[in-house]
Amino acid sequence: MSREIYLDNNATTQPTAEVMAAVANAMSSSFGNPSSSHRSGARARHVLRTSREAVAELIGASPDALFFTSGATEANNWVLQRLCMQPGARLITTEIEHSSIKSSSEMLENVGAAVFRLPTDKSGHIDLQQLADLLKAPVTLVSAQWVNNETGVIQPVEEIARLCRDRGVLFHTDASQAVGKLVVDAEKLGCDFLSFSAHKFHGPQGVGGLFVRQGVQLPPFVFGGGQEFGWRPGTENLPGIAGAGAAAATRRNSLTQTVCELAQLRDAFEQCLLRQIPDVYVNGERANRICNTTNLRFEGVDGEALVARLDQRGIRCSQSSACMNRRPEPSYVLRAMGLSESEAYASVRFSFSVLNSHEEAEVVVEILAEEVAKLRRFSMNFC
Ligand SMILES: Cc1ncc(COP(=O)(O)O)c(C=O)c1O
Repeated sequence: MSREIYLDNNATTQPTAEVMAAVANAMSSSFGNPSSSHRSGARARHVLRTSREAVAELIGASPDALFFTSGATEANNWVLQRLCMQPGARLITTEIEHSSIKSSSEMLENVGAAVFRLPTDKSGHIDLQQLADLLKAPVTLVSAQWVNNETGVIQPVEEIARLCRDRGVLFHTDASQAVGKLVVDAEKLGCDFLSFSAHKFHGPQGVGGLFVRQGVQLPPFVFGGGQEFGWRPGTENLPGIAGAGAAAATRRNSLTQTVCELAQLRDAFEQCLLRQIPDVYVNGERANRICNTTNLRFEGVDGEALVARLDQRGIRCSQSSACMNRRPEPSYVLRAMGLSESEAYASVRFSFSVLNSHEEAEVVVEILAEEVAKLRRFSMNFC
């Protein structure tokens, strides 16, 4: 098999050996229903408890403030639908949220909620003054992502949390692209809700969670038994949770070093690429960006064609988020930042993980230089 270089880590990350071992253990020697009173149940409960502790530590939460879900999509839907699903509810969010927030907020509008979507400037940041102005009227919930999945732009969530707290308004942040890539301290941040997903930091897919600040009420989204303190019923996804716990423990022990290494790798890739390939621009270059992500605009190139050609050469990357890739529209995130349709179509996202190397980054730049030149020649001949 030819070599594969995986640079689509904002879509999902490869589970590490520790994670796979933890999943296998939860499906073999620790199998059992955590609600059973016998010893198999006790072993499964032990896995559940230690995994909850590890994940809670990674997000800066007390273990009993963390509810495991099937991922960030469910956690986001839970908060938005349970708090804003009625006429008269007022939700403030942004124009650049992940589709799980975007689609939920559209559905809420259909049932009579008022939704205000904050625009961003060219760098991808929302305007805090505009948020402060909107908060002068009664608001049910503010939901703003911490890190954008397409551009890696980091929002000033501490400031957003402070503004919400000052007005007594509930604040939810989708931290799916932040957890494991920067220091997340949910308690200190002062948010009321924080969603995340384990497969963004080398955990398994189909597991994530929601932090809910102590004392804040959130009615259940699904009804059933007493699992997850009765807040999120259903037999726990023990293998997934065990994998999430292992991934969280590894990341917690190496976070500072990981962030530093990823930033060096991403920066080296960007610098090398910008030196070797003309007319390439970094979307959100001036913004505070997460350590592993670069979103690049290749002037005169069809991004979709570039992604396909790179795929043929063993390089995995994407044009926008994995959930939107199959749709023909240009990225709404890049459009919100002021890019034209053709500029958005010419953009490609590369996202690194600790499993990538500098050597891989160099190989990708070489291949990119060839493929971009070919596509530019082709489009000139075509014109
Ligand atoms: C910012 C953001 N929010 C939510 C999600 C959805 O997470 P999950 O795959 O766990 O449902 C993702 C993943 O693509 C994401 O990047």
